[in-house]
Amino acid sequence: MEKITLKEFALPLIKSIDSFNYLLKSHHRRVAVISYFIGLKMGLSEKYLTDLVIAAALHDIGALSVQERDMLIQEDVDRPEPHCIMGHRMLVNFSVFGDIAQIIKHHHIKFEDLRSIKDEVKIESHIIHLADRIDISINPDVFILNQKQDIRDKVISKKGLIFHPEVCDAFLTAAKADIFWMEINNMTLEQVFNKLNTELYYDLTREQMIEFALVVSRIIDFRSKFTASHSFTVGQLAYNIGRNLGYDDDKCTKLLIAGYFHDIGKVGIDTAYIEKPGPLSDEEFNLVKLHTYYTGQILNELSKSEWFTDIIYWATHHHEKKDGSGYPYAKTDTELCEETKVVAFSDVISALMENRPYRAGMSAEKAFGIIEEKIAPAIDSALFENIKKEINTLDLIVQDCQRESREIYTRNMK
Ligand SMILES: [Fe+2]
Ligand SMILES: [Fe+2]
Ligand SMILES: [Fe+2]
Repeated sequence: MEKITLKEFALPLIKSIDSFNYLLKSHHRRVAVISYFIGLKMGLSEKYLTDLVIAAALHDIGALSVQERDMLIQEDVDRPEPHCIMGHRMLVNFSVFGDIAQIIKHHHIKFEDLRSIKDEVKIESHIIHLADRIDISINPDVFILNQKQDIRDKVISKKGLIFHPEVCDAFLTAAKADIFWMEINNMTLEQVFNKLNTELYYDLTREQMIEFALVVSRIIDFRSKFTASHSFTVGQLAYNIGRNLGYDDDKCTKLLIAGYFHDIGKVGIDTAYIEKPGPLSDEEFNLVKLHTYYTGQILNELSKSEWFTDIIYWATHHHEKKDGSGYPYAKTDTELCEETKVVAFSDVISALMENRPYRAGMSAEKAFGIIEEKIAPAIDSALFENIKKEINTLDLIVQDCQRESREIYTRNMK
């Protein structure tokens, strides 16, 4: 496998997740742009500026529920801590992003409360705090240059109280120029990232790639307690089924990542459908089907190397069936490789063993029975027979994944 840089792997994902995320549409992009210009004015060196922009582009990833989103777009956020801590926890296991996790942890700290904080609060956190509040103050229905003065006055009134004075000064200097305001509305994340020297600081090992894929999968999984372990379990199942089928290391790693990514397109789907306390209507189901299409759109931003082509194919075809009745491509048996079916089976095993709003999670025995009878014939019964031989180990894997995810999820949701 060739060397992967952060720019080839993580940045395309961050960028497309922002554009697909209906919850905080473009908020991450705008806060990254504002932060970049403030950081630049403050004279941050390249490494710090890079961390700042990446942290800004991800700062609210810990705000996963609709309720939390609604709270964050108000002028005063009552309890910002949970989403800051959650964002930190989600990223801190990705070793490359240690500093970035730390920045996100404190992105709502008020300057006047600084003394009571024992932890290190980086200046980048203060920058994102201000940038975030500026973005919330912008009225999308009024042309941005007509709001310039009001927003500047508002910031001045909170200087030294809510906002760090040096950060305010840098903002006020940057904000004198109209270009600053025009860029907030127009500069793409790609354009901001292109100004940074990300390659210099970040080369990803395979382990780090897996860590990041897991971080991304949790952005989706943690949006609902019902799916909190879903993609993690699918990845682990696909990896282990691949092992049992005698695949080599490299292929198993690709299956792991394909499993983590398979539902990434759900970022574009309202969680209300996932949390609906009953089966979906036909109309609702049709909307949910879009997630596989979005998964393709997001993953297609990744490097076009053969290594990724496999992952993208396996991840985007997890709802296909051999008779052409699956979605979104309506592919038929000859077009579906075994690895795709491994991801598809991992997906249904994981889904049936999870709680749903209208039913409890099933035991492995019951789930495998249903799949054998009702689902496997539409995918590949012979392959499922093979998979089923390891039902006991697969059951343990699901239990472990559910326990681990539940632990991280509930610790942060309190
Ligand atoms: Fe926030
Ligand atoms: Fe799916
Ligand atoms: Fe799934």
